[in-house]
Amino acid sequence: MAKAKILLTRALPESVQKKIARRFVLVCNHSERPLTKKEIIQKIKSCNGIISMLSDRIDAEVMDAAPQLKIISNYAVGYDNIDLPAARIRNIVVTHTPGVLTETTADLTWALLLSVSRRVVEADTYLRRQKWTGWAPTLLLGADLFGKTLGIIGLGRIGKAVARRAGGFSMRVLYNNRRRLNPLEENELRATYTDMETVLRESDFVSLHLPLTPKSRHLIGSRAFSKMKKCAFLINTARGELVDESALVQALKSNRIAGAGLDVFEGEPRVHPGLLKLSNVTLLPHLGSATEDTRVRMGEMVLQDLLAVLSRNRPIHPVLSP
Ligand code: DGY
Repeated sequence: MAKAKILLTRALPESVQKKIARRFVLVCNHSERPLTKKEIIQKIKSCNGIISMLSDRIDAEVMDAAPQLKIISNYAVGYDNIDLPAARIRNIVVTHTPGVLTETTADLTWALLLSVSRRVVEADTYLRRQKWTGWAPTLLLGADLFGKTLGIIGLGRIGKAVARRAGGFSMRVLYNNRRRLNPLEENELRATYTDMETVLRESDFVSLHLPLTPKSRHLIGSRAFSKMKKCAFLINTARGELVDESALVQALKSNRIAGAGLDVFEGEPRVHPGLLKLSNVTLLPHLGSATEDTRVRMGEMVLQDLLAVLSRNRPIHPVLSP
């Protein structure tokens, strides 16, 4: 039987890409940049599946360019880049990679928490510029993490993994989530449920872990910043559009809040020019799940779903399974 044809929009770690290539005919992007929508439309034409990235907008126009498309396998846990209603009416299965990147993304969240509170990037730059003249009692003073309050907005898989790590720093954890956890889980995480306003008002660090939806877009804007402590830091490893970036720049410039650690941006890969000028932010190029092991595992999940769906079985990690 002829092998199914799959569009892969960005190169994966070599070992897992080779595995996928053994089972399917891969149409690859050989460039070092994301494909434009026009290029995706050209390449997807005779494909039965697509391995899409969170930066690829997969809408009705893309789906209509591929009449034989059976599966959109998103190489990410988030799937806000995919028009689900359009996939549903076209009977196209949508899958993603949940679970496998939870701990990796939680680790990176903590890298940002530590980086902004202890001014790690600023200090590294200071030293490389040969400004260090010797130990000094007031050199690059930061803020403590231990014993402080961590506010988590969105307590799904990644939010919980972040909360679990807070125990190691003896932090108080407040959270707000669509649904309250059961008392057993709250107890295990030592997390206290409260309304959004209290999370913003009482936290020294506010970390975002909720999905991007029309409702959560710009959830954190000038109103939210006006409620936060002046000594508080905002951390975002979820989706850039949760935050009104212009309002954030304003809040940082005017010292309305103390700093921010950002792995995601409103118009990725574009970063608000105001952020680039500020020293009280740490900026990362969307690295949440970026470890070799995790990215290989994500590829393996994608492969499992392609194999299942293209042999007419149910997907293993469905977002949408008509
Ligand atoms: C995802 O998979 O949705 C994450 O943003 C990756 O870092």
